[in-house]
Amino acid sequence: MIFKLVGLSAFVGVLSLCAAYKITPNVIDGVPSILNITTEPFIKIGTGYYFIQTKLPQNWHAAFESCRQMEAVLIAFESLEEMEMIWKHLSAMNPVRPFWTAGTDFAEQDKHVWFSNGQPVPSILWREGEPNNFENNEHCDNIYVTQGFGLNDDECAKLFYYVCKAPQPKTASFIVW
Ligand code: BGC
Ligand code: CA
Repeated sequence: MIFKLVGLSAFVGVLSLCAAYKITPNVIDGVPSILNITTEPFIKIGTGYYFIQTKLPQNWHAAFESCRQMEAVLIAFESLEEMEMIWKHLSAMNPVRPFWTAGTDFAEQDKHVWFSNGQPVPSILWREGEPNNFENNEHCDNIYVTQGFGLNDDECAKLFYYVCKAPQPKTASFIVW
């Protein structure tokens, strides 16, 4: 990355020496569709890019690793709106299993945080009556769209689907004139 930036700066430097060009840098969120660049296997939902695994159910730890192998993370909902949007999308797929999220209370019992970013799981996101740490053995959080809206803590060893979220892509360009 650094080398690419050095290369780009050198190119821009040489260009500016050759003629009195004005160079205007431009960085935008997302991938403009005009570029025809694929984001597969990530799909765009709202402004984010997500990978939805419904073929190979995995336990929570394996799901976490699978997302990291793709340079992504298990989903950590940043807002109620984001969770509602993803919920709607997943519902339309009629999935037969829940989806793992990044939520866990590994570090401190009953204190659920997104393991992908360390932030607390907002209390507004829980399904009524959850988290209940059923049979004192539930430390990983999922959503199950065929049940009521909200997160549920569950057994980490269960084989569920999962959703990964990619880092927000940026498109950088510069205009030379
Ligand atoms: C409970 C959940 C629990 C799940 C385990 C449900 O009936 O409401 O809290 O996580 O069973 O399978
Ligand atoms: Ca539970």
